[in-house]
Order: sequence, then structure tokens, then C-alpha cells
Amino acid sequence: MTALNSSQLPSNLREQNTNPLDIDLDVIEGEIPRDCQGYGFWMVPTPQNGAIPWFNGCAQIYRLDLQDAASNKVHLKSQAFLTPSVICDRQVDNALEPCWKNIFNLQKLLFGRLFKFQNRGGLARLSPRLGVQNQCNTALQAFQDPENKTWRMFATIDSGRPFELDLTTLKPVTPVGHREEWLALEVEGIPGIGKFELPWIFPMNMSGAHPAYDEKTGEIFLINPVFDIELVDELNVSLDRPETRIHIWHGRHVGEGKSFHTAQILDDRTNEPVIIKQSTHQIVITENYLVIIDTAFRIEYDRMLFEKLPARTQNAHNQVWLVPREQLATQETVVAKHIEIPHECVHFFADRDDNGGENITLHLVLASGHDVSEWVQATDTTWTNEAIDPAFYGAPPGVYDKQGFAKCVINAKTGKIVNQENCLFEEFWGVALPTYPGIQGTSPAKFENIWVNYTGCYSEMTPKRLIELYGLYPFREVPIYEIPASKAAGILRWSPIEMKVTDSYAVEPGFLVTSPIYIPKEGQTHELEGYIATMVVTPTGSEFWLWQAGNLKSGPIAKLRHKDVKFAFSLHSAWSPEIAPRNSDYKVNVREDMNASDSKYFLPGWIKEIFEKYIYPEFE
Ligand SMILES: [Fe+2]
Repeated sequence: MTALNSSQLPSNLREQNTNPLDIDLDVIEGEIPRDCQGYGFWMVPTPQNGAIPWFNGCAQIYRLDLQDAASNKVHLKSQAFLTPSVICDRQVDNALEPCWKNIFNLQKLLFGRLFKFQNRGGLARLSPRLGVQNQCNTALQAFQDPENKTWRMFATIDSGRPFELDLTTLKPVTPVGHREEWLALEVEGIPGIGKFELPWIFPMNMSGAHPAYDEKTGEIFLINPVFDIELVDELNVSLDRPETRIHIWHGRHVGEGKSFHTAQILDDRTNEPVIIKQSTHQIVITENYLVIIDTAFRIEYDRMLFEKLPARTQNAHNQVWLVPREQLATQETVVAKHIEIPHECVHFFADRDDNGGENITLHLVLASGHDVSEWVQATDTTWTNEAIDPAFYGAPPGVYDKQGFAKCVINAKTGKIVNQENCLFEEFWGVALPTYPGIQGTSPAKFENIWVNYTGCYSEMTPKRLIELYGLYPFREVPIYEIPASKAAGILRWSPIEMKVTDSYAVEPGFLVTSPIYIPKEGQTHELEGYIATMVVTPTGSEFWLWQAGNLKSGPIAKLRHKDVKFAFSLHSAWSPEIAPRNSDYKVNVREDMNASDSKYFLPGWIKEIFEKYIYPEFE
């Protein structure tokens, strides 16, 4: 893998050791406190070579056993997350390459490539005949088993069905929900042809990387939309039928082939299904509502097929729907109140306390025109027309305006914004991945502190194409000719109560702090007494750093390292109070769910053999 040549970023940011690791990390600086509770988890996609988005890669999961820390050692486990489509992708390549070995198999020689998974563009890896690779490489959701109260976890992605894992082995165990329960992208009504069902054994199931979880009721809320395909809209030809559904899962089966209670969500302005145009990266709950936002992470179906198509701007206003939970839990269709909140976000949270729906308080991480579904392309140049180092191709683009947080109070009954306060940061650019005390995906009664890493600003990987696209962004703070060439990376604590950054630490150039996770301290009486664990890529390798949650400014209290640990640009993290071998009857039968012998997929023998030999045995 080519090293990055950057004044700001570590040169090894796209390298990852994908071998399984079961090792003790050395404490190379500071001291590991003996009162850490639980286990930290991280999700890191493995970048492919070339100009492929770094986040379009196989998931590597890391688990740090902080609760069991010895005086100078902490155990780390790391494992590639091989879902059925990822295994299939690798085995199709093995079966087809080198091509001379199929010289006597004419069918494979002529049509084999139709089964290959390829990076068509954007974040998708597609096989024309098999479908979409579901990498489950974005985030992790912990939850408690409804019967035996052990902790369980599933991996998520915006464009696929979640997959549960075993917390001890980190290997995938079962899809969440049966195939038939998930809406898939289908092409409806091609003029002159009619309905066309894609014969994909790996369908595209749109979802969201951040489900919502209610620890009190045990409900897990999963979103499942079919987006509006905009290119087609522009041609005034509707190929799909957009709609949005919410699945409620309790971690168990609720009947033969059934895991969920599912409701279709209608828009109160039209009484028609809610239409998502960008993504549903995150959903959150309050006591009485589920909140859906069409998030500023613009997934463009057409650019998955034709990457040369120009990017379109994201909506600078959040389209928000408030879904009453009481109806959601019992009805099959629920009308949601639509509201619009200025200044778009990808990540957001809500206080659980909503005063009977009178006051919903949302905390938005303001994206300010930054589209993380974009990537640095081979044709990109910097703002000053310099070529971009090819090692950056595929990287998520640097930011090009101030970001920050907003607090927005809404009256859910009237749909009116009662108050909105925005705070954009002068010093902290590239506000990235937030964490807070407790199980991620739940809503605390009232958010008191949010910790978030910031990636800084670096002109060498911020494409002119995107700066120009967002030049007239309506909430622009910094004129495009005044965008700084560089800003340091680091970590900060945001107080939604004081509406300001209350603590921060900037790292030296060449270091990048990513994916913080809150680690509670045994017997703590206040959340500032806990710890924050982060991944850090340094100029010489990968490290885990531990911070005192209430005192970032003094720097990390411990640094952990091992020569075999090499991680790339990480995504989300999770925390679980316990780990134990999975102890649940919930399991979707992968052999039936992905039945390669079903005539509707009309798959050749060599593909069926891949399922029999390499896929089904992994899940039985
Ligand atoms: Fe996210």
C-alpha cells in the first residue's frame, strides 16, 4: 500500500493488518487504570488499493478488554468480519483467476465475469448477477438478550441487513431479520417491460448504520427505506417505488420466519410514504417519539453504477419526521409529523426526556456541506490546482467550512421549532465521530457531555471539485478563498448544557485521533470520572490511547501498542459491559435465507458450490 505524503496526516493511514489477532498490548506510556469497566469495540474498513473509497472495504473488528487490564498489559482481539457476500466475493475471484484454469469451462470463461464483484463507483461493491456486497463495516450496536440478559451485538452498514456477531470470537453468526422482512431495491415499471425483479441473492437492503435501542423496553429500531432515485426523477420516469419502514426487534423470533414488528411510515403532509433522498445514517428515540432524518450522507444510486457522474449537493436543511412510538409499536402504518431544521447533520442525538412530546431536544453534529459519502478521485486537484498524491485517492475528503454542534428544541405536537442554537468552531475542524456514556444507540435522559474527535483540515486531500460544489452553501461561514491550508487534529468535549467546548487536546502533526468510546469507571458518581479510549494512528504505527474523560487537556493517561497492530481510518466504536460466548436461540438459517439452488436466481453449479463449500458451513 502506498504511503501518504502529508504534512498533517500519518503516512500509514490506509494500512491494515487483516490477520486475526489475539494478543496483549504493551503499555508504552502512562498507566492503565484498574477500574475501567467493560470492553471497547471498533469497526475499521480495510481500504482497497487504488482510487476506491477507503470505506468500501471488508470490516475488521477490534475488541479491547479494558476491564481485564493487568498492570502493563491489555488484551486485544481483532478479526475480519466475513459476511456471506464477502466470502462469496473472495471465492468467485479464486474460481475465476487465473483465467487459463477455466480454459475448458466455456460457460465460466464467457460469463464468469458477470459474477465478479467490482467497485462500480462510490461506496458500493456490486456483482451484476449476485448483487451487492454487504460488508457490515460501519458501526456496532450492543444490546441485552431479552431472556438471559447477556450482552449481544450486531454490525451495521447503511446499505445492508445488519449481522450479529459473537462477542468472544468477533465472527458473524446470523443476519438480523429474515430476507423477506427487509425491503430491497426493486425496479418498478420499466416502460414497455413492467416490473423487473433483480435476481440478486445478495439484494440491496437500505438501512442505517445507527439504529436506536431502548434499554428499558428492549426494543431495537431499524430503518429500512427504498430511496427515491433522483436521476430517474429528473428524467420524469419513476423506476422505483420509494417508501420507508421501521422494524422493531427484541432480539428474538416472533413467529415462523419472522423477527420484527414492521410499520410503514407516512408523511403527514401527503399521507403517502416518507421519501428519503439521501440516507438514513442514524435514527434516535425519545420517550415518546422515534426521530428520522434524511441525513447529509448522500448515497447516490446512479453513481454506484456510473462513478463519472458529477456529485450533487446535499440538502442544507434537515428533513425530519417524528414518529409516535405508541403507534409504531402496534400499528402497521404510522403517520409521522414532518418538520424542517436548518443546517444539515449526519449524526444526531436526542434527550430521552421529551416532556410528553412537548419538547424534543435534538443535538446535531453540523456537517456544514461536508459529504462523507464522497471520496478523493483520481481526477481531483487541490484548491490551488495541484495534483493530489495518488495515495490519497479514495480517502474521505477533508472539510471546507467550520463545523460544530446545534441544539434544537421542537414541539412535537405543533411541529414548531421552539429554539435552535448553533455553535460553529473556529479552532476544531473536521468534527467527526461522537461518543457519550452508556450503550451507544440509546438516549440518556439528558445529554450532559459528548466527546468527539476532530480530524483537522488538510488542503492536500480536499478536492477543488467539492469546494466549488459547496461554494454557495447557504450556511457558509468561511469564504472559499479563506479556507485554511491546515488545522490540527484532536479530541474535544462538547457540553450541550453550556453550549461550548469545555475541554480539548490537539495532537502533533502526523498523528490522528479517531473513534472515541466512553469507558465508565467502576463506582463512578459523575460521567466526567470515566475514561475515553481512542484509536490513534501515529507516524510510526497504530496505538490505543486512554484519556481521563474530565481532563482531556492534560493528554492521554496511557498509550498501548503492539508491533502486529496496524489499523486504517476507523469508523464507529461501541462499548459493552460484558462479553460471553453467544447464548441465544435467535438464528436465521442462512442456507434457507440465501438458497443458491432457488430457481429464481438461476445460478450456475460453480456458484452453488461456493455456497455449499465456503458459505453455509460458516453459519451452521
Ligand atoms: Fe456514523
